[in-house]
Amino acid sequence: MTLIRRSFLALSAALAAAAPVGSALAQQPREIKIGYALAQNSHFGAGALAWSEAVEKSTNGAFKFKHFPSSALGGERELIEGLTLGTVEAVIVSNGAVSNFVPDAGVMDVPFLFRDTPHARAVLDGKFGEDLLAKFRGRGLIALAWGEQGFRHLTNSKRPVVKPEDAKGLKIRVTENQTHITAFRQLGIAPTPMSWPEVIGALQQGIIDGQENPVSVIVSAKLWQVQKYMTLTGHVYAPMALIVSPALWGSLNDAQKKAFTDGARAGGLASRKFVDDVEKSGVEEIKSHGVAVVTDVDKAAFRAALAPAYKQFATKFGQKTLDNIAAVK
Ligand code: PAF
Repeated sequence: MTLIRRSFLALSAALAAAAPVGSALAQQPREIKIGYALAQNSHFGAGALAWSEAVEKSTNGAFKFKHFPSSALGGERELIEGLTLGTVEAVIVSNGAVSNFVPDAGVMDVPFLFRDTPHARAVLDGKFGEDLLAKFRGRGLIALAWGEQGFRHLTNSKRPVVKPEDAKGLKIRVTENQTHITAFRQLGIAPTPMSWPEVIGALQQGIIDGQENPVSVIVSAKLWQVQKYMTLTGHVYAPMALIVSPALWGSLNDAQKKAFTDGARAGGLASRKFVDDVEKSGVEEIKSHGVAVVTDVDKAAFRAALAPAYKQFATKFGQKTLDNIAAVK
């Protein structure tokens, strides 16, 4: 055998041995980084898991989600910015953060806008929710579905809050959201906007007296370690948005876009299911850790105290929009 023929055979053998590796490489799933604020065993994690499993299954493993829970990629503002910077492909974020990017979404932060959970879900699942998702595109974000956190309640370390006057002077962390800031200021509270990853430390150090979040968040973050009182104000319904980056979206074919959209809807529903469950047992769990929970809240008094702020919200979002939302059955 000539040297050339021997080299040729050796090369062919080497290529044959390498072939399976090569084809496996060709089928490597595309990695999708997904970020969210809370732990994997939270409503965020439940939504993210359902979303990723649905996409991975319906695309036959063409995509593989890598989860970054517990604010591992930064606060919610950074997460949303990361979508346009290209540092993350998918996020689940609360509406509190979203309205800095999509101002029209801020209407959902108006206190006592929604009567109850079925009302909020009907609004988000209807034309209003669909139209709002479409508005994200104007801001370079692809929002695919709504998920849920539940209704927000007040917690603090100073005193029980039964009526609006009791809350006066408390330093309460709020999301970086103008509607929340306006409402809390109106109640005589000192609203302190702060990114979520800083909140536990600020509560521990006494920089703030309290915060406000749904039962789902209070349980997930074990806020009983840093809070003594909770009032079931249910002042704001907190949806969350399931969003993908424009770069990812632009690279998908139609079938893949459908897989991501259907998967996001499944994720949104999974978060609602998680919230339904945690709402059943969460308050008892919070009490069992020594937190004094005020359940009998005079919501009418809170609404009345907010009257001047409602005038501002009507100017900002349009009375017609507020009325249309209220009219949804
Ligand atoms: O309060 C917030 O910032 C949000 O509700 C949180 C805790 C990040 C969950 O989205």
